[in-house]
Amino acid sequence: MALKVGRGAAAPPFLVMDVIAAANARQAALPPGAGNVIRMEVGQPGTGAPRGALDAAAAALRSGDPLGYTEAFGRASLRARIAAHCLDWYGLAVPTSRIAVTVGASGAFPLAFLAAFDPGDRVALAAPYYPPYVNILTALGIEPVILPTGAASRFQPTVAMLQQLDPPPDGLIVANPCNPAGTMLHPDELTAIAAWCAGEGVRLISDEIYHGLNYAAPLVTAAALNDGAIVVNSFSKYFSMTGWRIGWLVLPEDLVRPVECLAQNLFISAPHIAQVAAEAAFDCHDELQANVAHYRRARDHLVEALPRAGFPHLSPAEGAFYLYADITDRSNDSVAFCARMLAEAGVAATPGVDFDRARGAGFVRFSYCGPEADMREAAARLAAWR
Ligand SMILES: Cc1ncc(COP(=O)(O)O)c(C=O)c1O
Repeated sequence: MALKVGRGAAAPPFLVMDVIAAANARQAALPPGAGNVIRMEVGQPGTGAPRGALDAAAAALRSGDPLGYTEAFGRASLRARIAAHCLDWYGLAVPTSRIAVTVGASGAFPLAFLAAFDPGDRVALAAPYYPPYVNILTALGIEPVILPTGAASRFQPTVAMLQQLDPPPDGLIVANPCNPAGTMLHPDELTAIAAWCAGEGVRLISDEIYHGLNYAAPLVTAAALNDGAIVVNSFSKYFSMTGWRIGWLVLPEDLVRPVECLAQNLFISAPHIAQVAAEAAFDCHDELQANVAHYRRARDHLVEALPRAGFPHLSPAEGAFYLYADITDRSNDSVAFCARMLAEAGVAATPGVDFDRARGAGFVRFSYCGPEADMREAAARLAAWR
């Protein structure tokens, strides 16, 4: 007799993982001295944790501290540093009680979605999107309501799009800067969206994981604009600590205790040693700003060079470390296009189908967080390959 399998078992793969595997295989197959595959498919800084974070972790390991569970919302000292960070970057005073340390932003999503929504609720988000939003919502029985966006709105949702939804959704996810397009909601746009959500009783979830990696517009946090907003952030991008798996939530008052109870049950706590390291990362802004300067230089070069290399239709590179290229004048099958680009030019990038099931076949995401020399070489290879 067939055993029952839940809806979570139907979660689709994150296709970029397949591209990473293909790029690894191609690199392994190259004879020594035959050059390298240039990695523009990965969405993680290659720089590693800043020096001060590593030192703090090493000291904690030697200290004899048993490094057991922390409280579900994390070490008090880390939560206090995150609150100070909110004051420093946004001028926003957030009580430490509203800050929850999580297992990356990834660990924050199920907490936020479970606390805010019920199965059958509808949550809107722009396409293209970061795939786990849709896959986690679906696994929880929450219906994603996709808002197709394009170059006209810089791949971001607008109030006009939201007003078309009848009835209004129960929630809205925004990402600012976003993955895969690397575009931002500018302060006036985010303010208008936050006000619309407040007016319509729509729970706003703002993914601010790429804050600090913004080149075109100033940073505003949704927590300053909407009292009911849930803000998701992480040490994975600006702080360059992907594998340490630490993120955080800035929670609205009404969800503090519900999220705390969920966190106690689902995760107990985020990794203790990583919390120690993350706290020290707040003292490493010089090193982290050097990383940002590197992304900015890579971005400036690619924005200028990729159009000459056959990719004239790029998303405005406002933040994060992504460019989303419309390739419809070259291919309508981005999976095959990326496979050919990897095999023939030795450049790995991610097909858009991961981010937009309906239209992603006409798009490719380039990530520019790799070594600067590689980013220059990629543009040269693509120009020769076109
Ligand atoms: C928009 C966005 N949100 C969340 C995540 C997950 O981040 P974390 O490493 O903190 O789990 C990513 C990772 O690439 C991302 O691009």
